Amino acid sequence: MSGLVIVGTQWGDEGKGKMIDYLASRADMVVRGQGGNNAGHTVVANGKKYALHLIPSGILYPDTVNVIGNGVVVDPEGLFQEVAMLEEQGIQTDGRLFVSDRAHIVFPYHKVIDALSEKARGEESIGTTKKGIGPCYMDKIERCGLRICDMLEEDFSRRLEGLIREKNRLIVSVYGGEPLEAEGILESYEQYARLIRPYVADTSLMVDQALREGKKVLFEGAQGSLLDVDLGTYPYVTSSHPTAGGFLTGVGIGPFGIHEVIGITKAYTTRVGKGPFVTEEDNETGDRIRAAGHEFGTTTGRPRRCGWFDGVVVRYGARISGVTGLSLMLTDVLTGFETIKLCEAYKLGDQVIEHFPASLKTLEKCRPVYRELPGWQEDISGCKTYEELPSQAKAYVQAIEEITGVAVKIISVGPDRSQTIVRERVFEI
Ligand code: GDP
Ligand code: IMO
Ligand code: MG
Repeated sequence: MSGLVIVGTQWGDEGKGKMIDYLASRADMVVRGQGGNNAGHTVVANGKKYALHLIPSGILYPDTVNVIGNGVVVDPEGLFQEVAMLEEQGIQTDGRLFVSDRAHIVFPYHKVIDALSEKARGEESIGTTKKGIGPCYMDKIERCGLRICDMLEEDFSRRLEGLIREKNRLIVSVYGGEPLEAEGILESYEQYARLIRPYVADTSLMVDQALREGKKVLFEGAQGSLLDVDLGTYPYVTSSHPTAGGFLTGVGIGPFGIHEVIGITKAYTTRVGKGPFVTEEDNETGDRIRAAGHEFGTTTGRPRRCGWFDGVVVRYGARISGVTGLSLMLTDVLTGFETIKLCEAYKLGDQVIEHFPASLKTLEKCRPVYRELPGWQEDISGCKTYEELPSQAKAYVQAIEEITGVAVKIISVGPDRSQTIVRERVFEI
């Protein structure tokens, strides 16, 4: 059994796409288990940039099998746009991409309700991606959703028509929105049903068989630990479980299928959307990080909020997913700072807080306790080994290990596959 989980340890956009693509060179299978096309995973391969939202980042290797598990919410429109984008680049998905028959389907009314409910929240909006993710998971939990297997049944259109009618009542009478026209939706979803048929599989069985045969399976986390609906900064979270545990139910496997968990961690912190952010630098420092790291959303294009590395966040993110090693990303972005700050704890009045608190009211009052380290001026984007890094960069890596209690096994110094320093082998790479 050889399952490696990749999770984001912060608020998403840590560089998971790059590392999944990197590790996928040795993987037989890459599997998504939660979220939907709210994710935006950027992969730079052979000088080309790919933005993937639903399709696993292993798709760029011709021999990797890619699986969208039952815990993912699938927007067929987004899925087939991505399939078309890949085909334009000469990448075929037939026979290499499988979608769980148990995954729930995102419908246009989910997106409309996402936007309307955000508007209704006013000042208290979450800042969602408006991809209909929350409303789709709501229907799943409420037990009125439709799954991919339902799409293949004869009564699919009839069931969908009933749901559109019901959701229109909500859209019009609760939110004062415009009702959706059923005809066009039914037509396009009938077409999606025909298109999706060859991709549909019992993916829990597929992954179990692959693990039993000793194949290398990569589990691709979307979002980040602090966006977990149970463990994150609720309610400023997504509606799924982007922690390691999410893969058990989101793929339909037991815990012994996973032998290693790599936490993808930015060398600083970013966040898109609203919610508390203790180390945020809403000033020139944040602007400088944003410019150097091109910190604009892959899915929505929104500028990301930026700040220093938050050790309390990463220590927590690592604990709740049982992280066995970190991959430190975008380290090159910090080049040129005279000094770099790392938050090792929070201060709440006189009290020192080392473990991430649940209450947002408490979090808002927390102030960062910083360790300040000298920065490095040398360009590190061409460094191939840990030894080549300037001593200040090595000291930064060591401080992160000390603060989080987890070994930094990989250091990324640029977006390309080649800009990756491996200190300790992961997945036999
Ligand atoms: P994900 O959602 O976790 O996959 O991350 P995103 O793709 O949304 O954002 C990470 C961004 O950083 C992408 O544009 C990547 O190409 C880029 N990236 C990844 N690793 C590095 C790195 O080490 N250095 C730099 N400069 N960019 C990186
Ligand atoms: P990747 O996989 C960063 C954020 C949204 C919003 C909150 C809820 O690229 O790391 P949703 O649309 O999910 O209901 O929005 O979650 N969010 C992400 N932030 N990276 C992501 O994915 C995200 N997916 C959702 O900005 O704050
Ligand atoms: Mg992203």
